[in-house]
Amino acid sequence: MDDSPLSSRIPRRHLMKLAAGGGAAAALAVLPGCSSKDDGDGESPTSGPTSSGATSTAGATATRTTTHPEPGPKVLQSTGGILKATLTVQPEMIAHGTGTRWALTVNGHTPGPTLRVKPGDSLRLTLDNQTGHSTNIHTHGLRVSPTGNADNPFLEIKHGEKFDYQIDIPADHPGGSFWYHPHFHHHVAEQLYAGFFGLIIVEDAVDRLPEIAGATERLLLLHDTTIGSNETAVMSANMMAQREGREGDVFVSGQQNATFEAAAGKLERWRILNASASRFYRLKLDGHPMFLMSTDADRLPAPLRVDEIALVPGERIEVLVQPAAAGSYALKSLSVGRGSMMQGSNIISNPEFTLATMKVAGAAPVPPLPAKLANTEDIRSMAQPKTREVVFSMQGQMGGATFLIDGKTFDPGRIDIRIPLDTVEDWIVRNTSPMDHPFHLHIWPFQLMEHSSGLVDGIQWKDTINVPANGWVRLRIRFSKIPGKTVFHCHILDHEDLGMMATIEVA
Ligand code: C2O
Ligand code: CU
Ligand code: CU
Repeated sequence: MDDSPLSSRIPRRHLMKLAAGGGAAAALAVLPGCSSKDDGDGESPTSGPTSSGATSTAGATATRTTTHPEPGPKVLQSTGGILKATLTVQPEMIAHGTGTRWALTVNGHTPGPTLRVKPGDSLRLTLDNQTGHSTNIHTHGLRVSPTGNADNPFLEIKHGEKFDYQIDIPADHPGGSFWYHPHFHHHVAEQLYAGFFGLIIVEDAVDRLPEIAGATERLLLLHDTTIGSNETAVMSANMMAQREGREGDVFVSGQQNATFEAAAGKLERWRILNASASRFYRLKLDGHPMFLMSTDADRLPAPLRVDEIALVPGERIEVLVQPAAAGSYALKSLSVGRGSMMQGSNIISNPEFTLATMKVAGAAPVPPLPAKLANTEDIRSMAQPKTREVVFSMQGQMGGATFLIDGKTFDPGRIDIRIPLDTVEDWIVRNTSPMDHPFHLHIWPFQLMEHSSGLVDGIQWKDTINVPANGWVRLRIRFSKIPGKTVFHCHILDHEDLGMMATIEVA
């Protein structure tokens, strides 16, 4: 895909462009719909006891159809409260068009297997590191312990070692879409870029709402990489590419220009992850509004119509789409700017391109949306908590730029912020640089309160949020339940590797 920078920058916009009302796409002629296909990977659903702590909903028994653009990642599902799996990460030549390309695969695929769990489950993952380098695993967005052999970003698993993780998901964990990727400092961008990542799904009562349970679920995992024949070609990036944040050819769940068939009249439920190391996307679906049902860390109270939506690295959304009329509809990424090393010039942005195409055969009445999704907590009106300011900055230009948080580069041995357990803080995250930096905090999600472009409308629980060049965000963070030391950082992972990361200890 062509990455040539555009000469002009689109105006900065808030997270998403919203249109009022819950209107539905118009239904056209009525013809029989066609049924969507199952991903058929043969993994049987769990029959063990579910320890879901989510509120109960009238049990719908509609069969879930999970479909990736073929031949998408495998699904591994917990049984009896445990998901036990070995993730072997290794370099491989994988099929690409009529030839092959070099990638870091997880159990033979990129993306790696999708891990499907329930609140209260325990993830017992053995990381078998055959990458040739040190690495580790981070479960992005999960509210779990960051210590010991849980979601600990400070671990080093050397080449040839096997390491047993035990990540216990609390019984009151919200449902949604999370993901795993490596987090070994200085090597995160290149290892993710090479293909080491996968989705984590936490199921909850929202999944059992009749409209949702009856929908076709698709996993759209957006990733870009370099198509090359060896490790150096794929994993190495020059200093300029690292400073800007490397970008490559875009894949959706391992496919380029994927096409999928949606049944007219059957609701589509898409889990979309930006697993790119640096690339921003601005999504728009031809002919259909999308209805947002989840932001990174929790559900929305009710579906919210979005005509387009930006997704920065690390972010996830879940959206509902109502196919009703026959046609071929492109899911596009529109042009999106993310600033530049140089104040006011050399804009990095992507021209518009098609990510995947939804084909709808026949026509049917517009499938209904659920009226309500969840009783999502809203802490905007609580008494103003202690406010802390965190500054992301860049010093120097092209040649010797450094990436800093509060004036410092990352030092794993230093504790930058100490917070007593069970306190709430407002963080003003300020970006004094001419490039955007997506802020990400492990373990403790935040409610987005305010943005340099305006107040935030509605409830949005997030763990990753873009802080625009020379802009800021205000986040309300509840440091509750889980103690431990972990990190926050820029999710342009080259910036993280260059030191735009800091430590936090909650105790
Ligand atoms: Cu998605 Cu610290 O990571
Ligand atoms: Cu994370
Ligand atoms: Cu950054």
